[in-house]
Amino acid sequence: MRTFPTEFADLLTPRGRRILEGRDRDACGALLQPGRRFVALGGVLDARKAAACRDALEKALRNTLTEMEDPIPPESIWGMTENYAELLPKTVRVRTALLESRRSRSWKAAEEVGLVGMLHSESFAAFAAAVSGRALRRKWGIQVLCYGPGDYSGPHNDHHPEDPEAFDGYVDMHLTFATPTVAHQWLIYSKGGHFTEMQSVNTLGGVTVYRLPFWHYTTPLMAKPRGEEDARRWVLLGTFLDAPREHRRGSAIEPPRVQP
Ligand SMILES: [Fe+2]
Repeated sequence: MRTFPTEFADLLTPRGRRILEGRDRDACGALLQPGRRFVALGGVLDARKAAACRDALEKALRNTLTEMEDPIPPESIWGMTENYAELLPKTVRVRTALLESRRSRSWKAAEEVGLVGMLHSESFAAFAAAVSGRALRRKWGIQVLCYGPGDYSGPHNDHHPEDPEAFDGYVDMHLTFATPTVAHQWLIYSKGGHFTEMQSVNTLGGVTVYRLPFWHYTTPLMAKPRGEEDARRWVLLGTFLDAPREHRRGSAIEPPRVQP
């Protein structure tokens, strides 16, 4: 059953459509504001459709996930030779649906529910272009993550200095679909050099857009009492590179002209 629409736009509420069309002055181009690297949007995905998407993810992808784990290296403590010189590499524990290969179980399951098509749809990238205010390349990366109880990602910044197309920054967009027994999970991020900002990501149909790199982490997902078994937060991700400064018309996903 294809639960996911062919076009991302079909999941949107009237507010979501206004953003896509450049008619929401708060959200459109929000990431162009100086110092603003993160936006969380609610009321953008239709609640009923978001619940159906969540149920489809639970049914189709739950048994195809692969664990991704980078624990704290013991040497980060016991290899230290100098007081207060600790350095923490990126740590994470989460499960992921591998969509890189068409032969994988995850890809087949995601394709069957329409997820692969929707994450590749023009309106998915156009929404990221609208909020980031930038022209984006037509080829983008997609990913599915699933946080269960205790899953988290430690402080990291997602900087890619070795990639000429990303070293100057790039855009990530995440759609969140949490199950009802998630108690909480937070995104903590830095502003002005300190981890002062905190946003709940325990949403059903919340959209978050990032202008990376910047320091952030995701707190361990906590389940409600006796809800561990079914507590999961699904994240659908798109990773978008900026279009080259000079590009042919139609070769990039352009942000909409923001209307007064
Ligand atoms: Fe990240």
